[in-house]
Amino acid sequence: MKILITGSHGQLGRCLQDRVSQYDVDVVAADADVLDITDESAVAAFIHQQQPNLIINAAAYTAVDKAETERELAIQVNEVGPANLAKGCAELDIPIIHVSTDYVFDGLGMTPYRPNGCTAPQSVYGETKLAGETAVTFATAKHVIIRTAWVFSEYGNNFVKTMLRLAGERDTLTVVADQYGCPTYAGDLADAILKIVAEIQKDSGWSKYGTYHFCGEEATSWHGFARAIVALSCQKKMLEQKSAVLPIATKDYPTPATRPEYSVLDCSGFPVEGVERNWQRSLEIVLKKLKTESSISL
Ligand SMILES: NC(=O)c1ccc[n+]([C@@H]2O[C@H](COP(=O)([O-])OP(=O)(O)OC[C@H]3O[C@@H](n4cnc5c(N)ncnc54)[C@H](OP(=O)(O)O)[C@@H]3O)[C@@H](O)[C@H]2O)c1
Repeated sequence: MKILITGSHGQLGRCLQDRVSQYDVDVVAADADVLDITDESAVAAFIHQQQPNLIINAAAYTAVDKAETERELAIQVNEVGPANLAKGCAELDIPIIHVSTDYVFDGLGMTPYRPNGCTAPQSVYGETKLAGETAVTFATAKHVIIRTAWVFSEYGNNFVKTMLRLAGERDTLTVVADQYGCPTYAGDLADAILKIVAEIQKDSGWSKYGTYHFCGEEATSWHGFARAIVALSCQKKMLEQKSAVLPIATKDYPTPATRPEYSVLDCSGFPVEGVERNWQRSLEIVLKKLKTESSISL
């Protein structure tokens, strides 16, 4: 089976590539320098030339705050790009696995959002990701859309690395404590996706296409997540001293984009089982990798 991974330099794209050798698949990995998913004719030509058996779209515009002023670019990458890829998949009659976000919800709920829950994005990023889901859904029935949340990894820029950097610079960190969600290791999400790929590979009549949720299993606030990061990195002697992590309210940390207050995702019904969702355990793995690679300046 030949898989095309788009957005291959991102957190998810890189974690997917680290794991594909465990599966019986050939991979074509492309980031924007090789395949700009917003370019309709380039996407059609690339798919035609490569003839993949499945596409994983890990490409996205993920700068949540910048999207408020870069709406057109966010639309291109998060809506037009997935539409181009899904059209190519429809033409070859191959599946697409597309990744979306908890930010499609309004965040006013008090119980975990189910995949069929009402969407009402509060930000340009959320709107464009929702539009991408719709475009994929309309283009082909052979889609798996996976909404995830609060993605961290050893790669790229993310909350874990930001907290480590700040904790290395300051005695006290103030972190928003009234937004709740589920941290998700990109490596665990990659495992979940590749397990689905393996199921599809085994069964040409696989019938579980649809929209699902996958995220870390224990909800926390950004403050709770930051405390866990600082505590674990002190334990691992990655920080010389333990900074205090103090809670603040969203209103005291204004950002251009509105974020959901509560975006806990209900992951029940996910089409494969046995994937790690304990984000604390995965955080330990990521910190260990960061320590070994010294890929951040502490
Ligand atoms: N990060 C999170 O906290 C989070 C939360 C919820 C859901 N998600 C979703 O999870 C998925 C993976 O996120 P991630 O954190 O791995 O994202 P990421 O690290 O930002 O990676 C996205 C990749 O897409 C590439 N890209 C941007 N525009 C492109 C284009 N026109 N054509 C091809 N590639 C392009 C980016 O390249 P450049 O870096 O060069 O722009 C980057 O390599 C995304 O669908 C995202 O929306 C992420």
